[in-house]
Amino acid sequence: MMVKLKNIDKIYPNGFSALKNINLDVSNGDIYGIIGFSGAGKSTLIRIINLLESPTNGEVIVNGKDLSKLNNKELRLQRQKIGMIFQHFNLLSSRNVFGNVSFALEIAKWGKDKIKTRVEELLELVGLSDKANYYPSQLSGGQKQRVAIARALANQPHLLLCDEATSALDTKTTKSILHLIKDIQKKLNLSVILITHQIDVVKEVCNKMCVISNGEIVESGNVEDVFLNPQQEVTKELISFMPPTRDDNIVDYLKDKSNVYKIIFTGPNAYNPLVSQMVKKFNVDVNILSGSIDEIIDKEVGHLVIKILGDPFIIQDCLNWLIAQGVTIQTIILKDK
Ligand SMILES: Nc1ncnc2c1ncn2[C@@H]1O[C@H](COP(=O)(O)OP(=O)(O)O)[C@@H](O)[C@H]1O
Ligand SMILES: [Mg+2]
Repeated sequence: MMVKLKNIDKIYPNGFSALKNINLDVSNGDIYGIIGFSGAGKSTLIRIINLLESPTNGEVIVNGKDLSKLNNKELRLQRQKIGMIFQHFNLLSSRNVFGNVSFALEIAKWGKDKIKTRVEELLELVGLSDKANYYPSQLSGGQKQRVAIARALANQPHLLLCDEATSALDTKTTKSILHLIKDIQKKLNLSVILITHQIDVVKEVCNKMCVISNGEIVESGNVEDVFLNPQQEVTKELISFMPPTRDDNIVDYLKDKSNVYKIIFTGPNAYNPLVSQMVKKFNVDVNILSGSIDEIIDKEVGHLVIKILGDPFIIQDCLNWLIAQGVTIQTIILKDK
């Protein structure tokens, strides 16, 4: 286990209760997404993981060590093993790219020669070897975040914390930074905790996730399971901010939306001709309105929007049969336009 939070409460000095009984397990090698709306308590939570903020109650265990039991020196050493990146990059404007990355190593008292080799290695890793002499003002947002990533990785951390790391970037740059994080995670066998209010970020790179609302974790699990079967209203609302799929657009144009269902299949089901079996078995007619394959963390998920024509009782039997085959069914709900 890389991170274990046990019964964490955070009450700020003004009496505001920002976190309530948080329990969180992040395994080695997870890219763990923590998602919630603004003000939910995400930044408070991530600052507690490296004890930049101390919890009012509870235990923070990182890589087997209870951080609150360490003295200052031990805590400093542990913090070097936890890298962190932020929405606004937090680079030093008076230092060039090389200087920003070397800063982390100077603090850790590395020798000059070793620093040079290490910085060059890191700039190579984040694809900025040719920008070593540039100053932050001469870089794009994506390049700045690459510098921040190189700096965060300088002391060979085992954990990388990302607080809204892509929120200031455009869609294309967001993707490239997320892919960099994913690559680095694999190459360096890191654990990553990624805090965001953007649901597509979680879908793109995370394997595990939890949803935080008003300082509480209200839902957690494998990303695939939470996406396909969200339990809480807030989770459904966050997911509704996904860019609309072609399926959703097509359904918007339908005049008669009765008996229209979106069926979602994963794994072996994606390859079974379930709909044609259903047609034969129950003797109904089916209009296929739309179909697509989507990817959630590298797993294929089939979506099919169908309209079933037939007796209402038989339609219900059809739906029950599909569910028994392991299919997820969503009745199409239209978003207010
Ligand atoms: N130092 C503080 N004192 C009092 N309240 C705070 C402090 N920092 C944050 N908060 C409050 O805690 C809540 C969660 O803040 P934050 O963790 O920054 O949320 P998020 O990162 O999810 O947007 C907010 O309501 C915020 O106003
Ligand atoms: Mg925040």
